[in-house]
Amino acid sequence: MATSATTPRLHVRSDFPIFAREIDGRPLIYLDSAATSQKPAAVIEAMDDYYRRHNANIHRGVYTLAQEATDLFEGARERVAAFTGAETATTIFTRNATEAINLVAYAWGRANVGPGDVVLITQMEHHSNIVPWQLLCQGTGAELRYLDVSDEGTLSLDQLDAELAGGRVKLAAFAHISNVLGTINPVAEMASRVRAAGALSLVDASQAVPQIPVDVAAVGADFYVWTGHKALGPTGIGVLHGRRDVLEAMPPFLGGGDMIRVVDWQESTWNDLPWKFEAGTSMIAEAVGLGAAVDYLGELGMENVRAHERALAAYALERLADVGGVRVIGPPDPDERGGVISFELEGVHPHDVAELINRQNVCVRAGHHCAMPLMRRLGVPATARASLGPYNDASDVDALVEALVNAKKVFA
Ligand SMILES: Cc1ncc(COP(=O)(O)O)c(C=O)c1O
Repeated sequence: MATSATTPRLHVRSDFPIFAREIDGRPLIYLDSAATSQKPAAVIEAMDDYYRRHNANIHRGVYTLAQEATDLFEGARERVAAFTGAETATTIFTRNATEAINLVAYAWGRANVGPGDVVLITQMEHHSNIVPWQLLCQGTGAELRYLDVSDEGTLSLDQLDAELAGGRVKLAAFAHISNVLGTINPVAEMASRVRAAGALSLVDASQAVPQIPVDVAAVGADFYVWTGHKALGPTGIGVLHGRRDVLEAMPPFLGGGDMIRVVDWQESTWNDLPWKFEAGTSMIAEAVGLGAAVDYLGELGMENVRAHERALAAYALERLADVGGVRVIGPPDPDERGGVISFELEGVHPHDVAELINRQNVCVRAGHHCAMPLMRRLGVPATARASLGPYNDASDVDALVEALVNAKKVFA
């Protein structure tokens, strides 16, 4: 049972309408927030209000409704930037984290990476932070190299230094928090070493922004990307924070409306930041929703979210040990990991684990978690993964443990 040290500090489940839902008369035990988070009523209502009362296209109209929509969109950008400690003008809205990374790989990469250069990533990356670099390297003749993941699920700064000492690294890209291992990487230290070696860095913070306080300026990376739907916001919106001088020197990614200043018969000039990288009609309602999500998280306080999920992860690690036959993957110390817990249950395929515990409405993910190279490194075809949100509490962990005990019985 939960001890006082592990008792979660947040009690916000009732803010999330989906938890009123029952399936087969049982409550929902949602442990898949690393895939996507649930949404508080504040986000749903902000988007509903936008469509009901303010819907118009942005940046172009002089009429009141268009100005309201523009103010809501740009206001959301200001709050998103403030939430992450970034500048508003260098906070670019994209479709998701994947598009943000592709934007950098195409727009910056094609202009700056060539034969013999190295793009350095790590073995713990999500496919979104692998495949764009593969495409860049294939297209330019650069080499894609990887930092190893230790048996405990960590990276080596010595290996980073050794790679940088080779003098060929143009850009290093790494996750802030691994979506499989839960590892919290020392990204500020990594970005500083990369910078000192004359290369650029990109941090994939898709799992970090929802889980821990982040400060983009303090991390000091050239690019810092995340995705709205994991941070209590809607799908269809992601964020690229970039260093101003780098963004200004980059060519655009997509061409079209809104990203131009002047279009002539043969060529065009570009709009200021951030709009230079936002071609076409933006995801206006989604930005409004993301603005409401960061307001909500800001009110909870990200220190409180982290403390809550850290305590719950510690409790989960403790309780999973009671099941017998559970092997948790990733750092054992809750201070070094986020609320993402991948595990194997001896003798039961992860897909069977997920399916069996779904009978008790326990929602976990099973598979490669879009990290096939990491699965190869770990020597497993797949894992089961329980991941936490601010709405989870000790009873969810208890339900997971009970469901796993039952699943074991089926296979006994
Ligand atoms: C670490 C990490 N990076 C990138 C992504 C991609 O996010 P999206 O699909 O929203 O672009 C994910 C999503 O699972 C992730 O966990």
